[in-house]
Order: sequence, then structure tokens, then C-alpha cells
Amino acid sequence: MEPIADTGGPRQAGALTVLGLETSCDETAAAVVRLHEGGRADVLSDVVRAQVAEHAPYGGVVPEIAARAHAEVLDGVTRAAMDRAGMAWAQLDGIAATAGPGLVGGVMVGLMTGKAIALAAGKPFIAVNHLEGHALSPRLAGPCPFPYLLLLVSGGHTQFLAVEDVGRARRFGSTIDDAAGEAFDKTAKIMGLGFPGGPALERAAEGGDAKRFPLPVPFAGAKHCDFSFAGLKTAARRAWEQMAAPTDQDRADLAASVQSAIAAALADRSANAMRAFTETLPEDADRRFVIAGGVAANSAVRARLGDTAAAHGFALIAPPLRWCTDNAAMIALAGAERLRRGAIDDLAAPARPRWPLDAASAAASPAMGSGRKGPKA
Ligand code: KG4
Ligand code: ZN
Repeated sequence: MEPIADTGGPRQAGALTVLGLETSCDETAAAVVRLHEGGRADVLSDVVRAQVAEHAPYGGVVPEIAARAHAEVLDGVTRAAMDRAGMAWAQLDGIAATAGPGLVGGVMVGLMTGKAIALAAGKPFIAVNHLEGHALSPRLAGPCPFPYLLLLVSGGHTQFLAVEDVGRARRFGSTIDDAAGEAFDKTAKIMGLGFPGGPALERAAEGGDAKRFPLPVPFAGAKHCDFSFAGLKTAARRAWEQMAAPTDQDRADLAASVQSAIAAALADRSANAMRAFTETLPEDADRRFVIAGGVAANSAVRARLGDTAAAHGFALIAPPLRWCTDNAAMIALAGAERLRRGAIDDLAAPARPRWPLDAASAAASPAMGSGRKGPKA
């Protein structure tokens, strides 16, 4: 993560109330969060409108459709967030919007709206990195002191971050091709399970035999913290296509096998990340392992990661599901934390389709960049 730039904004004491906007993928979201001194956060409102129906016919997120849908509903979603929080513009201390990474058309809708509100209300504007939102999301639910190890595992990202402070995170590893959520989504699509694929595949896997199809667990046993899911998807496709007339049981068995292989890959690499992170801590320090992102909603994944955490002396922290997936409360919180530190942005802040949190390690291993070329890059 880039160090917090001193943009000349005054450091602010007392409770700060911030409106956050999120439009970087296929959720249009607005939330009002009050950050107290000491770090406690109250979510005063949290509105998310998902674009499932708009993208379902295409089996994936279509950027142009997403941008148009954000533009159509963001005003109403923002109004709802302000009303539910019982807030008037004048009562806000700042307005935060996701400025990237993500689908640039959608990001621009949220960014322009946030800037317009800030300008009209005469309030500071904060451009938030979506990944920083995810990184801070466990702090919406309760105390989660720095530092902690975070596995962000969503449709766009699969990476480990050592979150040391607001504005300070180090990446320990990430995917070299697909994100874990994409592996769920793409195999679900191959198997005709519908969109969004992750939850559909989890449902299909119920009652399935996870041992029936031996699928590769990419990099199993490797010492590093990187992932690869492209081979797994190809193997699943082959297994599916080899069945002339797959029955419901065949489908359940393959879904369970895919889910188990993804969970195993996440657990194997999490063990490495926990070892590496532990080396950076004082001996008697508490060890916290946070999982965030849509894939963290998967029960098989949660169970495997819970076992891995316990085996390495880590407490597993899984934020409530609504803050695991894309939401604006995490953007408002990141905005408030930055505002507290005087890190405000001017109205020329650009939309950034790619924006690594840890620029140093992304530059050091560009092949391990944000990994994804698709809609949630
Ligand atoms: O965090 P998120 O809402 O959006 C971003 O990608 O930023 O994550 C969405 C991803 C999708 O790939 C979706 O299929 C996956 O999370 N997902 C799941 C489950 N729920 C959502 N994957 C597996 N099992 C689930 N229950
Ligand atoms: Zn996200």
C-alpha cells in the first residue's frame, strides 16, 4: 500500500461521519459510517443493490451494462443510505468513493458522483482503493487491531496482505492467473449451474463426493504464497466433457471435487503465509487471520481455513457476509480513517482501473500482478 500522502488536509479529531460509494464491479452501494476515536466504527446505513438480473443472460459481468446500471441507480441508492442514516449533507465530515481498481466505467460513475456531492456540500473528498476497503473491512464488525494477515479471496482477487496500519499493507503472494472466485464462476458456467457461479456451485456440491474426481491442487506443497487456478478449471472442463450424459450425482460429485480442490489450494498456501507472517511478529504476539471477499462465504473454504488457522495458532476472523462481499461500508470506513489522518484528495483524483495496494511488491514481481484480466481486475 502506498504510504499516506500528506495532501495538506488537517488531521481531524472526534467522531467522523463519512458517506462511502462503491461502483467498481457489479454492486451499486452507498453507506454512512461513523468512525470514533480509538477505531470503533458504527455503520449507520449500508445499502447494496446487486446487478444479478442485468448480467445473468451473459453468464458474467458485462462492463458497459454495469456502468449504465450504476449510473441509473446510484442516486437512489445514495438517497436511501442518507435517509436510513437520518443524515443531511451538512452533517457529513467527508465523502469517499472507490477510485479503483475495477471496471473503469463503473468506477467513474461513483467517483464523479462522490466528487459532485463533495463539491456541492463543501466537504472533503477521499478517493479510496477498493482493496484497502476490503483490507479494513473486519474493523467494521468489531475490534481487529493491526497487524493482521488477510486473505482477500473474491471474483477479482486472491492475495495475502499483511495489514500493518491504515495505508500500510504488504503483499505476501497472489494469483498468477485466475482469482479463486473466477475458478468457481468459470467451472459453474461449464457445468451449466447459472450465475453467479460460486453460490450455485456450493449448492450443487451438497451431497457430492469430493474424492471422486482427482483434480490438481496447483502448487501443492510449494513454499511460496502464490496461486494458480487456470489448470484446475481446464481439468474440471475435461472431466465434465468426458461424461456423455451427466446425472445429478455426477454434477454434485464434480462440484464437490472442484470446491474441495480450491479450498485445499487456499489452505495450503495460507499455511505458508501464516509461517511468513509469524516471522514478522514478536514471539508472544496475538496472531489474527482474516478472510474477506465473496469466496469467504463458502462453507467448505471457511472450514478448511479454520482448521489451518487453528493448526498455526491463529484466530480466524471472518467478517459478516455482507461485509465480506463488495459493499460501501468498507469504503466509508477507509475514507474516514484517511480523513482522520488528513489524507484527502482533490477533485482531479483519477479513476484507476489497476491500482495495486502494495506497489512495491507488485513492481518487484509484475508477473504476479493483480492477476486478472477480466471484469474485476
Ligand atoms: O467480493 P465479491 O462480492 O466481489 C468481488 O469479486 O470483488 O466476490 C464475488 C465472488 C464471485 O466470484 C462469486 O462466485 C464468489 O465470490 N462467491 C462464492 C460464494 N459466494 C460468492 N464462491 C464460492 N462459494 C460461495 N458461497
Ligand atoms: Zn471486492
